[in-house]
Amino acid sequence: MRYVMKGGIPLAGEVTISGAKNAALGILAAAILTDESVVIENLPDVSDVSVLLSAFREIGVVIERPDRHSVRINAANIHTAVADSPYIKKLRAGYYLLGALLGKYHHAEVSMPGGCNIGNRPIDQHIKGFRMLGAHSHNENGKVVLDAKELKGSHIYLDMASVGATINLMLAAVMARGNTIIENAAKEPHIVDVANMLNSMGARIKGAGMDVIRISGVERLHGTEYTIIPDQIEAGTFMMAAAVTKGDVLVRNIIPQHMDAISAKLMEMGCEVTEHIDSIRVMGRPQLYSCNVKTLPYPGFPTDMQPQMGVALCMAEGVGTITESIFENRFKYVDELSKMGADTEVKGSVAIFKGHSRLKGAELVAPDLRAGAALVLAGLAAEGVSVVDGVDYVLRGYEDFAEKLQSLGARIQLLDDGDDLQKAKLKIG
Ligand code: EPZ
Repeated sequence: MRYVMKGGIPLAGEVTISGAKNAALGILAAAILTDESVVIENLPDVSDVSVLLSAFREIGVVIERPDRHSVRINAANIHTAVADSPYIKKLRAGYYLLGALLGKYHHAEVSMPGGCNIGNRPIDQHIKGFRMLGAHSHNENGKVVLDAKELKGSHIYLDMASVGATINLMLAAVMARGNTIIENAAKEPHIVDVANMLNSMGARIKGAGMDVIRISGVERLHGTEYTIIPDQIEAGTFMMAAAVTKGDVLVRNIIPQHMDAISAKLMEMGCEVTEHIDSIRVMGRPQLYSCNVKTLPYPGFPTDMQPQMGVALCMAEGVGTITESIFENRFKYVDELSKMGADTEVKGSVAIFKGHSRLKGAELVAPDLRAGAALVLAGLAAEGVSVVDGVDYVLRGYEDFAEKLQSLGARIQLLDDGDDLQKAKLKIG
């Protein structure tokens, strides 16, 4: 699938942000820790979520969808702790089944995680933590196999503040015997959301959102109804869309505090950013000014907003840099921006944006989820028509991306592989 778009139109209006994808994936895994029914609201309708739900069905989880944004899950009849379907192989978050199945059944066999190719993405910290909780682990035919007689609380120090390891260890430890401490835990908003959801099921987790998380194991968890927080990265993407198109957009249904690092950079670049209780208005300016950005774990500037920031820096006045400190291979979009006339250079973990570029429409390929969204922003900021191919990536994490942009005045269309591209280009241009 691909997007075709005509750039140069300032986006204007209001956009409502969906539930957080990366919170949803952890929360869905948490839901299978109980045999009672769990209802989850504000579930984003993105393909990563539907793929994880398909993987759940394969192991016997009963899934009902009362509507597009809610799901009822009952995991009383899981018939296997082996999750190795093609669905699992597509996803990064399939690894949450390791923590959830180990926590509930003391046994898990899950295919090695897939997901976006943004560098080497080891799971050694997850495995280290599972072992400290009492599990044995080995790899077998592309699967991670975990086995424990019983799980016992432990003191786990993470070498880096890993989002995935923090969530996975919470999933495994909530029903372990005794107390667990996770030190150097990740602090992203979705960590707090998963912990809140687990606590609403009867878990006893304290300190989520801080460096040290303390968990007192409980014997069992019960059903719950839980509403997922808004998606920080979707919101940030629309804020950046306002900036790069010199538009004026009210981004609704968000938690403004989660956006602080992004708002601060947009203001540094000359945009006007006004915060309300659950929304933020971004007004772009005729000229953006460059800045330097380093990606860091929360509350630092999110790596998942790095490519979108790269687009803004191409167009800004002056030289700006991005230092990517989380993933080693997240600058693949820079070559695509060069095709649009951007003056950029990548040196190791630093991308240099020489600014002042007048981006021109081009045919682009999305290298991963956030980079794909960023290329769409570039296309909307550029002169002329652009095509972004390979947008299955984007659909993994953005609900109704084209429709939401259209509602802000963007000329963008999502095309199926079989659709006539030339005709669509003529129509949109
Ligand atoms: C999560 O990935 C998100 N994915 C990513 O979002 C996000 O970019 C990332 O966190 C950072 O915020 C999901 O939530 C499904 P990490 P995750 O473990 O958990 C290293 C998106 O676009 N590391 O925090 O895989 C790792 O290599 C996606 O929505 C180890 O070395 O990220 C990386 O350098 C892309 N060993 C750093 O830590 C480990 O055992 C942070 O990774 C674990 C991680």
